[in-house]
Amino acid sequence: QHETAAYKQRIKALLQQHNAALVAHYYTDPEIQALAEETGGCVSDSLEMARFGKHHAADTLIVAGVRFMGETAKILSPEKTILMPTLEATCSLDLGCPVDAFSAFCDQHPDRVVVVYANTSAAVKARADWVVTSSIALDVVDFLDSQGKKIIWGPDKHLGHYVQKQTGADMLLWDGACIVHDEFKAKALVELKQQYPDAAVLVHPESPDSVVQLADAVGSTSQLIKASQTMANQTFIVATDKGIFYKMQQQEPGKTFIEAPTGGNGATCRSCAHCPWMAMNGLQAIEAALVNKTGHEIFVDDALRLKALVPLDRMLNFAK
Ligand code: 13P
Ligand code: SF4
Repeated sequence: QHETAAYKQRIKALLQQHNAALVAHYYTDPEIQALAEETGGCVSDSLEMARFGKHHAADTLIVAGVRFMGETAKILSPEKTILMPTLEATCSLDLGCPVDAFSAFCDQHPDRVVVVYANTSAAVKARADWVVTSSIALDVVDFLDSQGKKIIWGPDKHLGHYVQKQTGADMLLWDGACIVHDEFKAKALVELKQQYPDAAVLVHPESPDSVVQLADAVGSTSQLIKASQTMANQTFIVATDKGIFYKMQQQEPGKTFIEAPTGGNGATCRSCAHCPWMAMNGLQAIEAALVNKTGHEIFVDDALRLKALVPLDRMLNFAK
């Protein structure tokens, strides 16, 4: 506790000294989200993180999240210094979508519009026509479908399947998954629901279809937080990274939030739902990044950046 307070104190001074803002995702650990709030930074979903970083007057952004979030910040704000607590914080969706293979897949279907999830490298974004986050994936695909467009979707097959089902769009899906959401189990969730018959089930659409089908609300992190506020239920079973409980409990201290079950063979594993890469964003790493930029700064090649900016800007302009 003492040590945490000392870290926070030093980080606050460093943020001021560098005219820096801390931008954190809802999946980071509670103390990181609290620090972002205390220092006038932002805690949000991937779409709002991008928007906040772009419009904030800071010279430096320290992005507590995973690498694609830092890269997105750099693509949108090349004039800013973008630091990350660790450059090792990747994402299984990004890892499962190497640009050469994805590009070859796109080349085989030149008649299709390429829509990629924000959880991708700058190089994959540069190959895409649109970037989307889970907050606006449905709206963008619905729009493209209404224009008669056929779509290539990558990399998350579960989110892609959900969007396809909801919109009826013609979509070819890349075979990627989030290692955190892929672990939620429908059978164990049915059993848990029986124990809490009044609970509403909130599910992030990176989860398997069998789990999504049990949901009372499906959506991005920000949409799930909103649902936990607006729905009348007092108890919620939540199928997404447990970092989200910080904000849910803060907004609705009187309500009860329960982790959805994860684990192999239908067995329950009630504490697994935390992204190992999000967990790398500790106070020590944030301080280290601010003290010594080396090894923490995000760079994106300029030609690549300009290409990736096109589909990212399309998303931000669409979402206005
Ligand atoms: P959102 O915050 O956009 O819902 O994204 C979830 C996610 O997986 C981030 O890694
Ligand atoms: Fe990637 Fe899943 Fe971690 Fe999000 S939670 S960063 S999608 S691995």
